[in-house]
Amino acid sequence: MARYAYVDGRYVPHCEGVVGIEDRGFQFADGIYEVASIIGGAMVDGPGHLDRMERSLAALDIAPPVSRRVLELIMRELIARNAVVDGFLYLQITRGVAPRDHKYPTGIRPTLVLSTKRVDFLNQAKLAEGVKAITIPDIRWARCDIKTISLLPNCMGKTRAAAAGAYEALQVDAAGYITEGTSSNAWIVTQDNRLLTRALSSDILRGVTRDRLIGIAAEEGIAVVEEAFSVEAAKAAREAFVTSATSFLTPVVQIDDRVIADGAPGPLSRRLQGWYLDYCAGLRARA
Ligand code: PDD
Repeated sequence: MARYAYVDGRYVPHCEGVVGIEDRGFQFADGIYEVASIIGGAMVDGPGHLDRMERSLAALDIAPPVSRRVLELIMRELIARNAVVDGFLYLQITRGVAPRDHKYPTGIRPTLVLSTKRVDFLNQAKLAEGVKAITIPDIRWARCDIKTISLLPNCMGKTRAAAAGAYEALQVDAAGYITEGTSSNAWIVTQDNRLLTRALSSDILRGVTRDRLIGIAAEEGIAVVEEAFSVEAAKAAREAFVTSATSFLTPVVQIDDRVIADGAPGPLSRRLQGWYLDYCAGLRARA
């Protein structure tokens, strides 16, 4: 079956999707992106992803290339054309194509690209078994709240993690506190049973999964404390996990050389993961 991408107003075969060599995304990483999971043919937390997309665009003074309503229609059409049941949707908007010059050009049209991928997310071993993480210095810039396509430090970190046989690299600020993973938010359950995740600031991305999980936890009567935690606190934690659109809630069972608790996903992580997956399954049922 043909796989399509949406590139600047046209649905094209995925492998034929191209943008210009002077696209500012290519030359300056001057753009933003979103990744949303698709469950049962529907985007998980679509409005949350579109809200964050609008915040990222506003922070970079990039005008939305199409209205939100039109974008929703394009997303739905692409998911349908590619017959994606479970998978994810990738959206990228760059400032557009212009002769190379660092300062923002005026009067150009932003580039809009969307693609989808089929993935059997829910049957991943890592959800049940948990993963290993390493810690690395956070060498990113001071606006990690913007979901820009400038991801080289994240790619470096993820590559170091893979080389160490780990799934994720937890980035650590100058004070020794974990900011977030290279593509996920980080959480721990402390020895006194407090569920912690770092507070929102320009140090981290506001994860849509993080937002959803805070809501689910509240409904279940579990308080989430938005507070930074150190590498030592994470290694001494009862439980640790990361969240993202593509990893849902993935337990972390080892950080560097330190096994967390007994090396198995903890009880609160499993309950929260179950509630989150139930929420996703509910979307599938309604699709
Ligand atoms: N990454 N922090 C960072 C640095 C991220 O890149 C991501 C997501 C998150 C979690 O955000 P959300 O829950 O909205 O997915 C946190 C996506 C999945 C990616 O880059 O592929």
